[in-house]
Amino acid sequence: MSSENYAQLNTDKKMRQSSNRSTLHPIESNIKKKYVQLFLDAGQNNVGPITCKVCHMSYNKGTEDDLVHAKFHKASVGGIDYPGYKSEVMLQVYPEDNGSRVVMFSNNKYSGFEKRKLFEILEIVTRELGSVEIREDKLLSSKIFLYVTSRKKVVGCVIAEHIKQAYRATRNTASSHAEEQPGEFDDASVVFYRTEPIRAVCGISRIWVSRQYRRKGIATKLLDLVRKNYIYGCCLGRLAIAFSQPTGDGKALATNYTGTSEFLVYTEEV
Ligand SMILES: CC(C)(COP(=O)(O)OP(=O)(O)OC[C@H]1O[C@@H](n2cnc3c(N)ncnc32)[C@H](O)[C@@H]1OP(=O)(O)O)[C@@H](O)C(=O)NCCC(=O)NCCS
Ligand SMILES: [Zn+2]
Repeated sequence: MSSENYAQLNTDKKMRQSSNRSTLHPIESNIKKKYVQLFLDAGQNNVGPITCKVCHMSYNKGTEDDLVHAKFHKASVGGIDYPGYKSEVMLQVYPEDNGSRVVMFSNNKYSGFEKRKLFEILEIVTRELGSVEIREDKLLSSKIFLYVTSRKKVVGCVIAEHIKQAYRATRNTASSHAEEQPGEFDDASVVFYRTEPIRAVCGISRIWVSRQYRRKGIATKLLDLVRKNYIYGCCLGRLAIAFSQPTGDGKALATNYTGTSEFLVYTEEV
């Protein structure tokens, strides 16, 4: 069975498990799509796609895929080149991290160079999350927060968008997943949530940190700056931040950040 089918079955199973509880609804998470090219096997070696053990990209070695993989691999592990741009607003410098800084893009009047860089970053994040692409107008009306190292690499990114309502996530306690702890969510493909909408203003549409830089508090720093800078002159509380269809990593982060597994979730408009 392909991993895609397995993920779907897994989703179906969890959706069926939810059907007995009238107030709980599942949000499908970002199930990574794997595009598989078919080859005729005439006994040759190295047939079919391989999956990189580091960046998890599936690709056909020895084809033009090599270049795509090399570019994604480098960015996924070590970050994306970032020379600095006029429209960026400097939010914070971290002397304890060799002068790394967080910058924000929020004015919607970007130059062609700036737009190209923002889309390059988005492309890596989208590929990593296996999520749908964001429309240009939506991306450009969102607030984009980047963690940039002194070596001029973007190693963390948050795209925050305006939302009107969210829902409270809840544990699927009826299932065998009741014993899950933060960090053991990786096979989870569904977030259960209560149906009563809650007013919310700030949605985390995407959050990503490059592999080499994970578990160093970068996502936490980015979320702190989102809360302080999303609405001018007002600092949102940790519990006011809503997460769009969180992945396993995302659930662990959101649980730690908000201090509860019942953080806010929302379904993004595409
Ligand atoms: C989710 C992600 C952004 C977290 O970034 P990060 O910079 O590593 O997060 P932080 O270092 O700020 O984590 C803070 C705390 O959250 C929890 N946490 C974060 N990621 C976790 C993980 N993968 N497993 C378990 N706990 C995790 C931990 O409690 C961590 O504190 P600790 O390291 O002291 O134990 C990163 O793993 C990532 O980019 N993953 C791939 C993309 C993705 O899934 N994004 C989420 C979309 S909703
Ligand atoms: Zn790779």
